[in-house]
Amino acid sequence: MSIDHPSFGRLADDRVIIFDTTLRDGEQSPGCSMNLAEKLRMAHALAELGVDVIEAGFPVASPGDFESVREIATHVRGPVICGLARTGGRDDIARAGEAVRPAARPRIHTFISTSPLHMKYKLRMEPDTVLGLVTAGTEAARNLVDDVEWSAEDGSRTEPEFLCRCVEAAIRAGATTINIPDTVGYATPADMAAIFAMLRERVPGADAVIFSAHNHNDLGLAVANTAAALRAGARQVECTINGIGERAGNAALEEIVMAIRTRPDALPFQNAVRTPDLLRVSRMLATITGFDVQPNKAIVGRNAFAHESGIHQDGMLKNAATYEIMTPESVGWTKSSLVLGKHSGRAAFRDKLVALGYGDLGDNQVQDAFTRFKDLADRKKSIYDDDITALVDDEVRDHAHVRFVSLDVASGSHRTARAELQLEIDGRAATGGADGSGPVDAAFNAVRTLFPHEATLVLFSVGAVTDGTDAQARTTVRLEEQGKMVDGQGADADTIVSAVRAYVHALNKLLVKRSRTEPAALSA
Ligand code: KIV
Ligand code: ZN
Repeated sequence: MSIDHPSFGRLADDRVIIFDTTLRDGEQSPGCSMNLAEKLRMAHALAELGVDVIEAGFPVASPGDFESVREIATHVRGPVICGLARTGGRDDIARAGEAVRPAARPRIHTFISTSPLHMKYKLRMEPDTVLGLVTAGTEAARNLVDDVEWSAEDGSRTEPEFLCRCVEAAIRAGATTINIPDTVGYATPADMAAIFAMLRERVPGADAVIFSAHNHNDLGLAVANTAAALRAGARQVECTINGIGERAGNAALEEIVMAIRTRPDALPFQNAVRTPDLLRVSRMLATITGFDVQPNKAIVGRNAFAHESGIHQDGMLKNAATYEIMTPESVGWTKSSLVLGKHSGRAAFRDKLVALGYGDLGDNQVQDAFTRFKDLADRKKSIYDDDITALVDDEVRDHAHVRFVSLDVASGSHRTARAELQLEIDGRAATGGADGSGPVDAAFNAVRTLFPHEATLVLFSVGAVTDGTDAQARTTVRLEEQGKMVDGQGADADTIVSAVRAYVHALNKLLVKRSRTEPAALSA
């Protein structure tokens, strides 16, 4: 099997295309939405990581989605840039084609449901109508780009005979990649292996296309199913950083890539991912979305390489291979090093920013971040890379309408908590105070006093950026208003300040979201 692909040329038999859908399937999941600047930053990081395809969004879904796919297609070089489109949707394919056009290598990914359940209840269509749309939609996409992917939504629950007919129609109409999603995370590895083996054996033209696996994790089998698909002949895997995605998520990119790297005997495949960048990209996504990685998450979780038991520690000291199947360094873990102190100057700070991947900050942002760094260095003995990252991420967040200026809080076991807050709202200073049952409650009440709004708080979580009682707090606040959900993040050595920064960040995101759909809403 050696395929001549419009975007990749002649591919070796063992080459696996890494298709990242963090910005599409991942971004669809509650609490993971990103703004344009955040998506662009992630897309550049994914390109540096070495993924082959970036699915940048679903252009017809909203003007914002269209714009982000178009911007990524314009500015991100390296990977194929892909836009999603329904096969039978009215403007989907035209919008996707327009959005990906600036890319050096554009792809349209078009899909339609093929399972009896989805055709009957979701599409309300007869199988023959669906089959006709597969041909028409794929041809329409092929008229716009050479690289077309077609997906059978709910493919794993589709009648085998009908799946073969749909795949054959898509290939005849010009699809170059055929993706079989396990949309609801129902399949087992044996099911996956059987589906791909069947399609490769029975569908005419199957040897001229790339088969792709797209697995959801509802039963925790997404990565196992993806590995089984590879062994049965799939040569593209669709995955997301940290496994984010609809419901229980998608197959995690870092897990599938490291499974391939660590077990060449079982998974003898090649890809172009630079694994020492995995942790950096995982953390970037967690910081942008506020969606923390669980501590025991494979590869990128805080405990993934921690050895607690005495027996394990003893073995590790004698020979690391006793309990480590891959080195922490191979996926980007290094000892958090002491980086800068309170006597470090602006030049050293700027050098550090460049080394941490923030070379593109404007002068004002560097100056503001430097001022905060000096303030932090006065309060915290040791400053680490993670401290700088948290601080700069906080500085570059979207504060278009509401800015945090200062906060004073008085609280204790024998008094009502009181917060005095200063914000800047659309360029004007606003000062006021409020009481609360505790310091966070008082501070959030003060935000509501200065900037009245209807949004409700649905999640509040605090973690530490580094070890020690002087560590910066990293806070996530989730707000909900009329079914719209946004997450805000904040970081500061003072936990309550960090919480207010996160609240203000969430409010700004909500304002941007509302202004896209309903310009007059949520005014102060
Ligand atoms: O899970 C799914 O079926 C999808 C398709 C749109 C590819 O995400
Ligand atoms: Zn999906």
